[in-house]
Amino acid sequence: MIVELDKTTVRMKNPDHVRGIISSIKKDGVNKLQVISDFDMTLSRFGWNGRRCPTSHNILDNSQVITEEGKKQLKDLLHYYYPIEIDPNRTLEEKCPLMVEWWTRAHDLLSQQKILKGDIAQIVKESEVMLRDGFNEFFDQLHKNNVPLFIFSAGVGDILEEIIRQANVFHPNINVVSNYMDFDDDGILRGFKRPLIHTYNKNNTVLNNTEYFQQLSTKTSIILLGDSMGDLTMSDGVTNVKNILKIGFLNDKVEEHRGKYLESYDIVLERDETLDVVNGILRYTFTET
Ligand code: TMP
Ligand code: MG
Repeated sequence: MIVELDKTTVRMKNPDHVRGIISSIKKDGVNKLQVISDFDMTLSRFGWNGRRCPTSHNILDNSQVITEEGKKQLKDLLHYYYPIEIDPNRTLEEKCPLMVEWWTRAHDLLSQQKILKGDIAQIVKESEVMLRDGFNEFFDQLHKNNVPLFIFSAGVGDILEEIIRQANVFHPNINVVSNYMDFDDDGILRGFKRPLIHTYNKNNTVLNNTEYFQQLSTKTSIILLGDSMGDLTMSDGVTNVKNILKIGFLNDKVEEHRGKYLESYDIVLERDETLDVVNGILRYTFTET
């Protein structure tokens, strides 16, 4: 029913179950649907031409406004903490405090760099960030069908909003919860607003805008998109869930992580830099038959 599911990048533990959820989402109708998505390495590309693409934090780290010493310190943090973030042999309890440590140290370093609010657009323009292939169709389909898109990101809100804006797809159906920069009266970065969102607290503990979820309580079908094990809890704040389809992008250390991803995500997309499968599912859901 959806040719994209035959792509060689697609793995499913239980294809019949997946087809069942998709049918159910279609049957319940587009008015019941919402999409909850991570941003970095989910809506944005993991790699291009054999090179890694930047996360929203990396865009700042690599920009001209950061001193060489600052760049080195931020890189050291990445090399120390990223392997911990994706280590399949550590528990969430072990990882959480270390992620708080990483984000806090990175945000402190960034806040010492005199980053100007007025420079953000240029920083994004000069970066190597790319949205996944098919992003236009993805954002446009959701917008045209009035499907709310909730972007829940442990990245930098100001940066990711600017990426979506520059791609001309920042439609009014989009809501973002992320780490937002806090600028002083002169427009200089002085810190980050609370609460701090890291990879493993993306759940209702940081969603104090429950109003948003109340508004969405009628949207009982969810398509969840993520690339990390931490993204699986992004829908925890939704009280009424009837159908949920979890799609996970497995970008890095594929063989090592495959088992865990297949247990947790309904559809696993291995080294797939496109939104083809998501677009195929949405197209099927939105087609009246
Ligand atoms: P997310 O994709 O789950 O929203 O998480 C954001 C990613 O940002 C996560 O994979 C770690 C990464 N990150 C950096 O690249 N640099 C940093 O300084 C920090 C704090 C996070
Ligand atoms: Mg991510």
